[in-house]
Amino acid sequence: MTALRQMTTADLAGVMDLELALFGEESWSREMLAGELRQQPGSRHYLVAEDEAGQVIGYGGLLAAGTQADVVTLAVAAARWGQGIGSQLLAALLDEARRRGCAEVFLEVRMDNVRAQRLYRDRGFTEIGIRRGYYQPSGADALVMRLDLAAEPVDGPR
Ligand SMILES: CC(C)(COP(=O)(O)OP(=O)(O)OC[C@H]1O[C@@H](n2cnc3c(N)ncnc32)[C@H](O)[C@@H]1OP(=O)(O)O)[C@@H](O)C(=O)NCCC(=O)NCCS
Repeated sequence: MTALRQMTTADLAGVMDLELALFGEESWSREMLAGELRQQPGSRHYLVAEDEAGQVIGYGGLLAAGTQADVVTLAVAAARWGQGIGSQLLAALLDEARRRGCAEVFLEVRMDNVRAQRLYRDRGFTEIGIRRGYYQPSGADALVMRLDLAAEPVDGPR
């Protein structure tokens, strides 16, 4: 298991390195991410995954206000893909949504990002729609997915 902990402004440099490498022209800016962190713990919950040397190798973020939550970002360093880190981050974000009493969790994922879609489907997310031209500047379409936390069995999450 990789160590996960809350993201702070001290992580911004490491997170931005990964953000730019993974999302290219669709990357969030450092200012945008810093603004997100200022809303912790109120309506946001951001995590980083660290390697043994304390380097950031993944991160994820949740917007949770009221009964709805959104997985707003999820990323793992390409060299560490397929090691379960993305699944671990997603599971931790979903745990936080449950703790906050959210009934449903939404997310957008690029239509061509089959790898991420598989991860979300494995966790119980289902497709509920398409947002045309959601990603800018590429104009790529997004698949909107939803997880029904209220429908989970009372003896715990799947
Ligand atoms: C999507 C992403 C976060 C997954 O992270 P990860 O650490 O590789 O995820 P995991 O190792 O937990 O694997 C999750 C699933 O990915 C798929 N996967 C893993 N390794 C794979 C491989 N070599 N080839 C294809 N699919 C693979 C599998 O479905 C796997 O589920 P499984 O373990 O039940 O088989 C990561 O690939 C990433 O950062 N991609 C770029 C950014 C991105 O697309 N983020 C999502 C935006 S919505």
